[in-house]
Amino acid sequence: MFTELRMGEVWDHMEFDGQIALVTGSTSGIGREAARLLAAGGAMVIVTGRDAARGAETVASIEAEGGRAKFIAADMADLASVRSLAEAAGEVDVLVNNAGVFPFTPTAEQDVAGFERLFDVNVRAPFFLTAALLPGMAARGRGSVVNVSTSATSYAVPGAAAYAATKAALESLTRTWAVEYRGTGIRVNAVAPGATVTEGTQALAPEAVAESGRRSPLARTASPREIAEVIVFLASPRSSYVHGELIQADGGRTIG
Ligand SMILES: NC(=O)c1ccc[n+]([C@@H]2O[C@H](COP(=O)([O-])OP(=O)(O)OC[C@H]3O[C@@H](n4cnc5c(N)ncnc54)[C@H](OP(=O)(O)O)[C@@H]3O)[C@@H](O)[C@H]2O)c1
Repeated sequence: MFTELRMGEVWDHMEFDGQIALVTGSTSGIGREAARLLAAGGAMVIVTGRDAARGAETVASIEAEGGRAKFIAADMADLASVRSLAEAAGEVDVLVNNAGVFPFTPTAEQDVAGFERLFDVNVRAPFFLTAALLPGMAARGRGSVVNVSTSATSYAVPGAAAYAATKAALESLTRTWAVEYRGTGIRVNAVAPGATVTEGTQALAPEAVAESGRRSPLARTASPREIAEVIVFLASPRSSYVHGELIQADGGRTIG
């Protein structure tokens, strides 16, 4: 997978040519932008989520841009569905664990069902999806996994206790997988987005997201494309010596 560049060469724009990329939660927001960019780079993209109509729209927009994509419906809260997705996806070269839920609840008000749902979707699903796909990547000697965390694991946000804990778990998985698959040609990394304007955040708490963006040193929110660019960089051979790393894409929010 890795080819060193000679002086004067530039990376081929079709850097994912011949590869299959699976992006969870790609019917919306950050995941949809990552799917579009991976397809623009030549990957055959598997778009997934629960919503078939949004899935079809995403596939149509990728095809309209000249890319290749197909939709596979999956509910990440349901382990059987996660396993079917892994099976249907086949030989995946790039896995982006992006699907997530992010309800904010004060700790004392958190109910058990909501807590379990957070961990099922944000931790259990990427855990078993990745577990199903890593052996195939190792056998083929190549693969790139990108986990989508949050900058809220690095600074404390009231009401985000359970959500931030799920993403802290995902960051831990990133590091463990990076050493567990040592020497196999697989790289595993994570990106921690800051306040990003997506369908999900606009439906949930647009003002809180805007305020969080204002408090970053860049003094604004991110677009989904700005986060997707980091995901795609981590998935690509351009980051060939980056492994087990977490990249903050948060406008500087975690540094002050
Ligand atoms: N936006 C931000 O400010 C921000 C900041 C930090 C981290 N993040 C993280 O970035 C990721 C994407 O966030 P976003 O803002 O782009 O969210 P979004 O617009 O709400 O999109 C979420 C995606 O996840 C999928 N999803 C949710 N629950 C699912 C389930 N049970 N089964 C299958 N798919 C499911 C949705 O698909 P369906 O509806 O089709 O199922 C959708 O495609 C999340 O992991 C989030 O925690 C976001």
